[in-house]
Amino acid sequence: MTKPDAVLVVNIDDEDAPRYVKTRDLRAAGFEVVEAGTGAEGLRLVKELQPPVVLLDVQLPDIDGYEVCTFIKQNYPEVMVLMTSATFTTSAHRTLGLNTGADGYLVQPAEPLELAAAINALLRIRRSEDALRTLNEHLDQRVRDRTAELAGLNVKLEAEIAQRKRTEAALVQSQKMEAIGQLTGGLAHDFNNLLTAVIGNLDMIRARASDPRMVRYASNAFQAAERGSKLTAQLLAFSRTQKLATVPVDVNALIEGMREILAQSLGGTVNIEIELAPGLPAAMADANQLELAILNLSLNGRDAMPDGGTLTIATALDPDHDDYVVVSVSDTGTGMPPEVLARAFDPFFTTKPPGKGTGLGLSQVHGIVHQVGGDVAIDSEVGKGTTIRLSLRQTSADAPAAAGEAYRAAGQHYETVLVVDDDPDVREIVTSTLVEIGYHVHAAGDGVEALAFLAKLVPDLLIADFAMPGMNGAEVAKAALARNPALRILFISGFSDTAALADAVGTTHLLRKPFRPGDLGVAVREVLDA
Ligand SMILES: Nc1ncnc2c1ncn2[C@@H]1O[C@H](COP(=O)(O)OP(=O)(O)OP(=O)(O)O)[C@@H](O)[C@H]1O
Ligand SMILES: [Mg+2]
Repeated sequence: MTKPDAVLVVNIDDEDAPRYVKTRDLRAAGFEVVEAGTGAEGLRLVKELQPPVVLLDVQLPDIDGYEVCTFIKQNYPEVMVLMTSATFTTSAHRTLGLNTGADGYLVQPAEPLELAAAINALLRIRRSEDALRTLNEHLDQRVRDRTAELAGLNVKLEAEIAQRKRTEAALVQSQKMEAIGQLTGGLAHDFNNLLTAVIGNLDMIRARASDPRMVRYASNAFQAAERGSKLTAQLLAFSRTQKLATVPVDVNALIEGMREILAQSLGGTVNIEIELAPGLPAAMADANQLELAILNLSLNGRDAMPDGGTLTIATALDPDHDDYVVVSVSDTGTGMPPEVLARAFDPFFTTKPPGKGTGLGLSQVHGIVHQVGGDVAIDSEVGKGTTIRLSLRQTSADAPAAAGEAYRAAGQHYETVLVVDDDPDVREIVTSTLVEIGYHVHAAGDGVEALAFLAKLVPDLLIADFAMPGMNGAEVAKAALARNPALRILFISGFSDTAALADAVGTTHLLRKPFRPGDLGVAVREVLDA
């Protein structure tokens, strides 16, 4: 009779009598016993049953008991082996048995209780070994889990650090752009005022000079000043202080319209591909400035492909933000190394030889795109080429058909104009230009003076500088309109807080400095005829 949870012992002994005695004693002590009469049979049972304990007689007919023990310990190390012998009883035998891996060595015949006690002692050792092994496995697993967890956290941390670095770099970049923008904006403003005076006066000189050499000198100077004026326009674009006409633009149509100018300016070695996404919604932009930006990018592409290549201009919906339209300009040129990429948007950063590039192209693109709420990104690989993507906010509004040049031939002018500008040079050139055309002109140096004029005079048009000390142009205009609601108003401004100007001026007319006398004439006529 054995209990169901009785411990199993495999009893290996070739001699029937002692084997029987051991089995009987063990059963009496509550063990379950399976017997084997040979080493081979014993090994088979061990393999099949994997018992907790083997009782092994040293003297066996087929295989030596020491060998059986070695085999068991090599293949089933957790099986406890208790060796027994009635004949091999010397200290040398017991030593050999223990050295081959036996867990105990009992000289036969032993007291029944001693046999059971020896086996129980082995079982206690075995149980604590088991417990230790489980604990170890458990610890191993916990170490593995924790290592995996830490590795995961580390990956996350590294990603966060990288993200933070990118954000910081972007912040530094935008602060840098902001600072340079303010600097260049202020500079361009003052420069613009000077150029307005220079260009106006040169124009007068040219018109009045009788000596052909004088005419030529004046023309040369005039052209140089005009180049300067283009430069300041670019600077103003970068510093985002020019007033942009942000309207829905059909980008595809705009690019279609550029085919000819692109073909002319890119020369014969560049192959031009235009890939326009059909059904593209309109994008918010200033059409003229956007065209300039695309042209600038195309010229950069051409310059990057001295041995020819392909320039691709494409449009698409932004795959990441579907409320944005993307215009991309790609070339198969030299690409930009990291140090060029890092500074490409900086004004006056150029890698081109003197006289070839001003370094204002990309800064201008940056300025006008950001000013209309868009973004610009460069993707460039040295030796492969460059792609520049402009993302522009899309709009559901329809783009108006391109407005034609609203120029009308000047007729006879008799209207009265009041000019307010704090800059005497600009005031002088505006006045003399308008007088030349035929208007009656009065000039004031500030808002108070202008209002004093308005008290005794009813002009048809007020031309006011926007940025003036004391009352600004908008304030003067407001006071003037309160007096005379029919008064027409034309603002002139080089530098302005675009938003403030839009708020104050609304839809009123604006002429940007520097302007040529011809521009002024056209603008004045337009306002008066509107
Ligand atoms: N498509 C491009 N491929 C390779 N490098 C480019 C590309 N576009 C710009 N760059 C690099 O960026 C610099 C700055 O470009 P950016 O257009 O601002 O000025 P620029 O072309 O040198 O002069 P500008 O446009 O004022 O005549 C270039 O000098 C050139 O090194
Ligand atoms: Mg350029």
